[in-house]
Amino acid sequence: MKINQLNIVVLTGAGISAESGLRTFRDNGGLWEEHPVEEVATPQAWQRNPSMVWGFYQSRRRQLSEVEPNPAHFALSKLAEYAKDFFLITQNVDDLHERSGIMDVVHMHGQLRMLRCELSGKSEERMEPSDLESDFQFCTCCETASRLRPDIVWFGEQPMNMVEIYNKIETCDVFIVVGSSGHVYPAAGLVNFAKQFNVQTILINLEEPLNSFMFDETHFGSAGKILPKLVNEWIEQSSLC
Ligand code: APR
Repeated sequence: MKINQLNIVVLTGAGISAESGLRTFRDNGGLWEEHPVEEVATPQAWQRNPSMVWGFYQSRRRQLSEVEPNPAHFALSKLAEYAKDFFLITQNVDDLHERSGIMDVVHMHGQLRMLRCELSGKSEERMEPSDLESDFQFCTCCETASRLRPDIVWFGEQPMNMVEIYNKIETCDVFIVVGSSGHVYPAAGLVNFAKQFNVQTILINLEEPLNSFMFDETHFGSAGKILPKLVNEWIEQSSLC
């Protein structure tokens, strides 16, 4: 694969952050085992019990300062340097891709670092120590400060940047998915969309996900081990030509 001649789109899921110590959702001991989705990740849950939802996300926001990017994150930022064009979409709401050196990350499910004004819908980065306390936080955009909600796409809400995501996949050469179980749409259907445009599809995942049969090439194992090796091989192949 001569990556310096290729437009590459990557989609990551919780699996790429697992080796940084962030829990995935559906593996054993995953987040949804302890906190059923209906209780913490839907607009109805926020209406019904905002303190429960707020506490769930504040603890995940506080955890961001305790984790670091892992070799899989750094392998992608190295790939971004060598590819002709590189576009990263993540389902993850952590900031590990940015902290590994990738500047433009499309967070289709939102970001823990941001909070969203319930009145104006505006998002603001709020990661100061005082923003991470258990009390609700209030916006700086309204005359009378309104309560802020997590800037996360909850079940039943529209993922972000989908038009840009589809446009990028339609025109790329290679679509790589790392660390996702293929449970949640539209993310899980992007490989199928890519195949309609003769895009080469590659999967790197610990176990066989639901949609693994859709991929041209699959690598099973930990992303922190597989991805650095693959990226170095691709760089070598490019420099040999
Ligand atoms: N390396 C590679 N893959 C891994 C690793 C690892 N070290 N550890 C776990 N995985 C794989 C698991 O095998 C699993 O297939 O990562 C996948 C994680 O799946 P999920 O927990 O379902 O996470 P994800 O696919 O990102 O979930 C998608 O669902 O709950 C919503 O909004 C949430 O963005 C999330 C979306």
